[in-house]
Amino acid sequence: MKIAILGGTGSIGEGFALRWAEKHDITVCSREADKAVKAADEYRDMLLDMGLSCCGIGGCTNEAGIRGADVVVLSVPYNGVIQLLKNIMPYFNDQIVISLVVPMKKNDLYEFTPPKQGSAALEIQDVLPKTVKVVSAYHNVSAKKLANLELRLDYDVVVCGDDKDAKRTVMELTKEIKTLHPLDGGGLSSSYMIESLTPFLINLAIRNGFSDLGVKFV
Ligand SMILES: NC(=O)c1ccc[n+]([C@@H]2O[C@H](COP(=O)([O-])OP(=O)(O)OC[C@H]3O[C@@H](n4cnc5c(N)ncnc54)[C@H](OP(=O)(O)O)[C@@H]3O)[C@@H](O)[C@H]2O)c1
Repeated sequence: MKIAILGGTGSIGEGFALRWAEKHDITVCSREADKAVKAADEYRDMLLDMGLSCCGIGGCTNEAGIRGADVVVLSVPYNGVIQLLKNIMPYFNDQIVISLVVPMKKNDLYEFTPPKQGSAALEIQDVLPKTVKVVSAYHNVSAKKLANLELRLDYDVVVCGDDKDAKRTVMELTKEIKTLHPLDGGGLSSSYMIESLTPFLINLAIRNGFSDLGVKFV
């Protein structure tokens, strides 16, 4: 599959590029082509240094990456994602778009700040063409742990989406990341529950002296 990671130069984008590169053709995307190429080169070198194979990792602008992609990962902060999507709208057709975007702000502690639609995923679906299939996942996965290929993650990942085939594809991609466990979280309208868990987890970590908490349902 061709996977374009928008904002793939950032914290959690790196982890997805490293984890999926063995089986998939990865495009690291950025607002600046040079920055994307540099990050892609670094990720490839990291994999080769670890003796791991990779199908292909390249870098380009966000808009160029979307063209020809089967899956587009929105790995961009909430405060920039809607404007970014509006800027690059003509390049979307029928891709699966994965939103891991969490609208939150920090006061004393972290607070969930959803848009009027109720979740970032629903707002994103509103701005994208109707032919794009939005799936919501990975909000509670730590960027630091995802990028450490020596770690067994052992988290559950709740996946929400209205298109059953698109949701199944994202659940399969999740299973490829050892040892994440995908769980069907229902339609996209359920995304707010899992998005709102992220600031709660960060606050729990701060209050209790943990770092990089994830979710496991037992
Ligand atoms: N970090 C985590 O542990 C974690 C966990 C779960 C979910 N998430 C979600 O994943 C998304 C990315 O998080 P992150 O921590 O990886 O973010 P980040 O490192 O701060 O940013 C990721 C990339 O987004 C691009 N970007 C930044 N501001 C932008 C703007 N205003 N418009 C367009 N692009 C912009 C930048 O790429 P270029 O400058 O190269 O364009 C940047 O490298 C967020 O929505 C976050 O809520 C994060």
